[in-house]
Amino acid sequence: MRKVKVKLGSNSYEVCVGSGLLAQTGRWLTENGFSGKLVIITDPTVNWLYGDALNRSLTKEGFNVTTLLVAEGEDQKSLETAGRLYHELTNCFAERTTPILALGGGVIGDLAGFVAATYLRGVPLVQIPTTLLAQVDSSIGGKVAVDHGQLKNKIGAFYQPRLVITDTDTLKTLPTTELASGLAEVIKSAAIRDNEFLTFLEKNLDRVKSLDTGALEEIVFQSVKIKAEIVEKDERDLGLRSILNYGHTIGHAIESASDFKVDHGRAIAIGMLAAARISNQMGILDESESMRLKSVIERAGLPTEMPNLKLEEIIQAMKHDKKVLKDKVRFVLLKSIGDAFITDEVSPHLVEQVLVGSNEKT
Ligand SMILES: NC(=O)c1ccc[n+]([C@@H]2O[C@H](COP(=O)([O-])OP(=O)(O)OC[C@H]3O[C@@H](n4cnc5c(N)ncnc54)[C@H](O)[C@@H]3O)[C@@H](O)[C@H]2O)c1
Repeated sequence: MRKVKVKLGSNSYEVCVGSGLLAQTGRWLTENGFSGKLVIITDPTVNWLYGDALNRSLTKEGFNVTTLLVAEGEDQKSLETAGRLYHELTNCFAERTTPILALGGGVIGDLAGFVAATYLRGVPLVQIPTTLLAQVDSSIGGKVAVDHGQLKNKIGAFYQPRLVITDTDTLKTLPTTELASGLAEVIKSAAIRDNEFLTFLEKNLDRVKSLDTGALEEIVFQSVKIKAEIVEKDERDLGLRSILNYGHTIGHAIESASDFKVDHGRAIAIGMLAAARISNQMGILDESESMRLKSVIERAGLPTEMPNLKLEEIIQAMKHDKKVLKDKVRFVLLKSIGDAFITDEVSPHLVEQVLVGSNEKT
């Protein structure tokens, strides 16, 4: 097991990463000063797979456990579901000191985190992420939110967890598409911050895809380290943290223009490569670097070329995205693998050229 400390003054916390950690959760919670009542928020699939193991570990330490179930899917990240959870928390007499354990993927983490941030003006939150995306991204950094109509993550807060327990064994039951989606974020972490990590991925992607315990632990640990370092420097997302949006400017536009038929991981993969091509065309990034990225993305089972969408719809979606600042579309570009920067100086013509170019190659 390895630990990453997220250093945020009085809001600091540890992320424990390793195999077989669910069984140790009760002991860690005790060591972190928790006792008595606690509430798990999870979905039926994750509860069926991991609810018992977690419960055993908690009851062994004498915790009094209540489990609240939320149906699966992004549409549960709503004020309506949060309202139902507040009601259920009141029914089970949850108090200010009662921790909420978010057991699941990013949807559960964001929703349970939002509820923890707001119920009784804040109760302790423990993230127990079970998808690769949640382990390397959403469980760290304290962004919690629900959606509002079509607007994603519009109602939320920065609310750091007290502890993150990341059992990489849970990744072994993930559907392949979910694993690939998370791999897009892993590749993103390497691309923006750590060339050596990309080299590791180049050498070990097959071990990762065959769910090798050591390889999974390594990619999650390295990604968590990168996210922690960025969040420590810019907790409130006022500057540097935006580099985590590498690939997201075009990626989000593709998700939205395709009516979410292209899922997040795939859209981000295409967006990352498009941003690398823009960096090439602007003479900032060597072409060989974007070819490395392309090869890793493809080997991860992710697409690199544009889906069949109307260019105009992608451009419009990009303009509506939150990464537009003062009417200019902001991009994260690469100087080299491991060295990302933010700019709003990308000409719309170049963006179109890269999008059309990708389309023509399909
Ligand atoms: N807060 C942040 O910083 C942040 C960052 C990135 C994404 N997000 C959010 O994360 C959400 C997406 O999260 P996600 O990709 O984890 O999807 P998800 O939470 O919807 O989970 C995907 C599916 O996987 C299942 N599942 C979870 N763990 C499993 C396991 N170990 N084995 C088998 N099945 C399992 C779930 O039941 C669910 O059906 C979005 O709402 C997005 O906005 C938040």
